[in-house]
Amino acid sequence: MTQSKLFIQTYGCQMNEYDSDKMSDVLKASHSLELTNKPEDADVLLLNTCSIREKAQEKLFSQLGRWRKLKEKNPEIVIGVGGCVASQEGNLILKRAPYVDMIFGPQTLHRLPILLDQVNSKKDSSIDISFPEIEKFDHLPKPSVSNVSAYVTIMEGCSKYCTFCVVPYTRGEEISRPFNDIIDEVSILASQGVKEVNLLGQNVNAYRGSMDDGEIADLALLISIVSEIDGIERIRFTTSHPVEFSDRLIDVYAEVPELVSHIHLPIQSGSDKILNLMKRGHTALEYKSKIKRLREIRPNISISSDFIIGFPGETDEDFTHTMNLIREIKFDKSFSFIYSQRPGTPASTFVDDTELTLKKERLAILQNEIDLYTDEISKSMVGSIQKVLIEGFNNKGSDLYGKTENMRNTHVEGGSELIGQIVNVEITSARNNSLIGKVLN
Ligand code: SAH
Ligand code: F3S
Repeated sequence: MTQSKLFIQTYGCQMNEYDSDKMSDVLKASHSLELTNKPEDADVLLLNTCSIREKAQEKLFSQLGRWRKLKEKNPEIVIGVGGCVASQEGNLILKRAPYVDMIFGPQTLHRLPILLDQVNSKKDSSIDISFPEIEKFDHLPKPSVSNVSAYVTIMEGCSKYCTFCVVPYTRGEEISRPFNDIIDEVSILASQGVKEVNLLGQNVNAYRGSMDDGEIADLALLISIVSEIDGIERIRFTTSHPVEFSDRLIDVYAEVPELVSHIHLPIQSGSDKILNLMKRGHTALEYKSKIKRLREIRPNISISSDFIIGFPGETDEDFTHTMNLIREIKFDKSFSFIYSQRPGTPASTFVDDTELTLKKERLAILQNEIDLYTDEISKSMVGSIQKVLIEGFNNKGSDLYGKTENMRNTHVEGGSELIGQIVNVEITSARNNSLIGKVLN
């Protein structure tokens, strides 16, 4: 059977985006499959799923229902389901959607070529949702990029077991990639023109990578060494947990100018009672003191967070603590979600007696407040000079666009020679979601 076109639908986090890129890389190397953005043109359809919240999970079967129609027209089409829902539900997906051919977890996507061969030869479904340690990374093709900014996974999984979260169950426990593998990957990316790397993992500051001399490197050391790689001008990392946001890591902000003045550091709630029920392992005060130290080193650093609203037991008073913390820190653009009960997590047994309407009200109040600060930060940037990494021409093709360190899309006039460069831009105005500026010589 000759298959030539691959379509991937991705839900969820940046880890999933990264994994989808790798799925396309392995199937290109093994079966010469080319990506298409039209599902109706594809021979192989993959769905990379997310189970972090209910809504993400519901999407799976409605999408599969649409693909089923394509398969009724062309029975040769192969449908695969990967990611966290696949990891959690496994066989159950086949029960509800028997026309699915392949099921694979986040740790077994490198075995997709084998699964596809099995499906092609047996015409039967194949499943692999095991957790074979870090084997995945040893079996991926060398990265190739078309952009000036790239993600590099440095660790997988999470061992923090926050009481609300499925990640430790779907992606497994924390496991770090060897130090030199990461340095090699970043060096290859840099030689292909990448200027910015985003070091990726569910809990990157728990990174403990073995080095050739048997020593263990932490994230602080990794960032320092990555910053010395020729061509790498900007470093980001996502996502961090406040407990492991160590003094050593904070010091790196003083030592490594390539490290951006923007940090995503999820707090979830400003109430110590709720933080404790979530098993986050720190208080609101401890969080604030870390931010205080960081701001002593980088006064203008922008800080974003994740918030969960309506966790079981959250009272008006707890919510007030969250709002007070938001006003104190003045968070930049952040993510906030209504608590979603996840099967198998400790919090799923907690009594949740807050009305959904009240949760929605709280969410709206919180999002409103954060929008105000986000807007205030954007406006305060007008007149300042920002470093912008130019990524390409915008849709109209007339202006260039790029990102500031704090992730503001910025539009400037200029020629193609600026693409891939970090340029000084004077910000002239702020719109809702973007900035306008002019390039300084
Ligand atoms: N370390 C990972 C966490 C993944 S989950 C990261 O920050 O990328 C991302 C966010 O989803 C969490 O920070 C949390 O705010 C939210 N989240 C996780 N489980 C949730 C649940 N059961 N209900 C609502 N939001 C949840
Ligand atoms: Fe989830 Fe908490 Fe880890 S939110 S990913 S268990 S740090």
